[in-house]
Amino acid sequence: MTDLSTPHIDPQGETIAETILLPGDPLRAKFIAETYLDNPRCFNRVRNMLGYTGTYRGREISVMGTGMGIPSISLYSHELIHTFGVRNLIRVGSCGSMQEHVDLYDVVIAQGASTDSNYLSQFGIPGTWAPLSSYRLLEHAKHLADERGATAHVGNILSSDIFYNADDQTLGKWARMGVLAVEMESAGLFANAAAAGVDALGIFTVSDHIPSGRRTTPAERETAFTTMIEIALELG
Ligand code: ADE
Repeated sequence: MTDLSTPHIDPQGETIAETILLPGDPLRAKFIAETYLDNPRCFNRVRNMLGYTGTYRGREISVMGTGMGIPSISLYSHELIHTFGVRNLIRVGSCGSMQEHVDLYDVVIAQGASTDSNYLSQFGIPGTWAPLSSYRLLEHAKHLADERGATAHVGNILSSDIFYNADDQTLGKWARMGVLAVEMESAGLFANAAAAGVDALGIFTVSDHIPSGRRTTPAERETAFTTMIEIALELG
């Protein structure tokens, strides 16, 4: 039980676990909690950013929406880490593949998150700091993906502030540097985790294949997400 609250999270006495899954969409957090967790209890309704705590295979775990973009995930992860003592933060979401060989429905596990955001400037680093995920969580996630026979790519992703890009050449430049896929949050999460000395990871399902323009339907995405979620639930 906790009587703590923040401007964006008000658990009203409910607990938040040390390990949390972080989908962008709060309704996906509800779906994950109701589908996978035993005895799920809602710990946040502020701004409808739903969060739940329950147990998975006997272990307490939480799941909460983050909203879209680095500003949104950064404020929620900051409050989860600094007020509620969360120590393992695992983003689960969709990404757009930037590489021919990273196909629709494949899993991408972020080793690092490059970014076009200015978020990292607050740390005052005199150079280019690389936001990395936790190697402990990364290694475990890759092992679980291999055990399941899932196609899982490990590498650099791009956390972009821009979904509708005015310049269609930009993504190609990241792709030429070997960046696997684009999403919009992980660099902020990894930076907050590193600054606080806690662990973070990003696991994604490819929802669109940018080189070919192919994309999944919302219904197809639902099934593809299962592998990613089941891997994430084992981590901590
Ligand atoms: N998430 C899924 N697909 C994406 C894309 N193309 N750009 C940014 N975020 C995404």
